[in-house]
Amino acid sequence: VKIGEVMTGGAVGEVIESRNPKFQPGDIVQGMFGWQQFAVSDGKEVRKVDPALAPVSTSLGVLGMPGLTAYFGLLEICRPKAGETVVVSGAAGAVGSLVGQIARIHGCRAVGIAGTDSKVLHLTDELGFDAAFNYKTTSDYRARLREMCPSGIDVYFDNVGGVITDAALWEINVGARIAICGQISQYNLEQPEMGPRLLWQLIVKRARIEGFLVFQFASRYREGLVQMAQWLKEGKLTYREQFEEGIENAPRAFLGMMRGENLGKQLVRVST
Ligand SMILES: NC(=O)c1ccc[n+]([C@@H]2O[C@H](COP(=O)([O-])OP(=O)(O)OC[C@H]3O[C@@H](n4cnc5c(N)ncnc54)[C@H](OP(=O)(O)O)[C@@H]3O)[C@@H](O)[C@H]2O)c1
Repeated sequence: VKIGEVMTGGAVGEVIESRNPKFQPGDIVQGMFGWQQFAVSDGKEVRKVDPALAPVSTSLGVLGMPGLTAYFGLLEICRPKAGETVVVSGAAGAVGSLVGQIARIHGCRAVGIAGTDSKVLHLTDELGFDAAFNYKTTSDYRARLREMCPSGIDVYFDNVGGVITDAALWEINVGARIAICGQISQYNLEQPEMGPRLLWQLIVKRARIEGFLVFQFASRYREGLVQMAQWLKEGKLTYREQFEEGIENAPRAFLGMMRGENLGKQLVRVST
């Protein structure tokens, strides 16, 4: 994003005026409209949202990009099998909270790592994770992972990188699959940390590590959204959304999310 440009971001809103036959005034649509109250679009990569299905805000969360990231990242990159142990970092956020729940739906043991005690309780008591711990009050991540993953780690879904990921790498099983979804601990470092240094673990464990972008699954979004909506309807998925009011507070909401002040998907309600 260049200085002076509209900040990029996904948004959902109502069509006010349209010269595109695919869209009528009153339609609810989702797209990369940016941080603004009104947007002009050529209609490309804009999808209609059914407000009868779920609150329209879910098109930015569980039934949108974060939901698809969790769905394809876990199922296509990690290919979890029933009985396996899935560890997810950033577990109480928009993507991570869904990864653990999808792992449970597939019969896996889900273990989450998050940054506050209340997030940890939310994971185990409300989202059905089998175990979770607070990385900010834990000094020995490896010991904690060993305790919570008595059969080792088969799948590690990484949202954060850094020392948490180092600890997870130590505990992987033979044939483990690691998805690099995000590296939030690294994004704002003024001096990049050196590494990774533990890749020999991938040799001895004959394991696979793979980065991905949700956009690579664009041709299959419909399949993912239909399945996520079905699980939501069946009560198999729980989601949280946190709202900040007013576009003027969008920067604060964004920085708060980077600091871990959000539970589930951080959204901004843009008043017009
Ligand atoms: N590959 C893709 O296509 C794709 C798509 C969407 C998102 N992503 C990535 O996936 C990750 C999660 O995205 P999201 O939208 O769901 O965000 P989110 O998890 O809702 O929010 C970010 C969370 O990161 C945690 N965090 C911040 N700094 C941290 C640190 N130094 N160490 C550990 N955790 C830290 C905070 O929770 P705590 O309280 O737990 O610290 C915060 O709540 C991000 O890294 C994002 O870039 C990737």
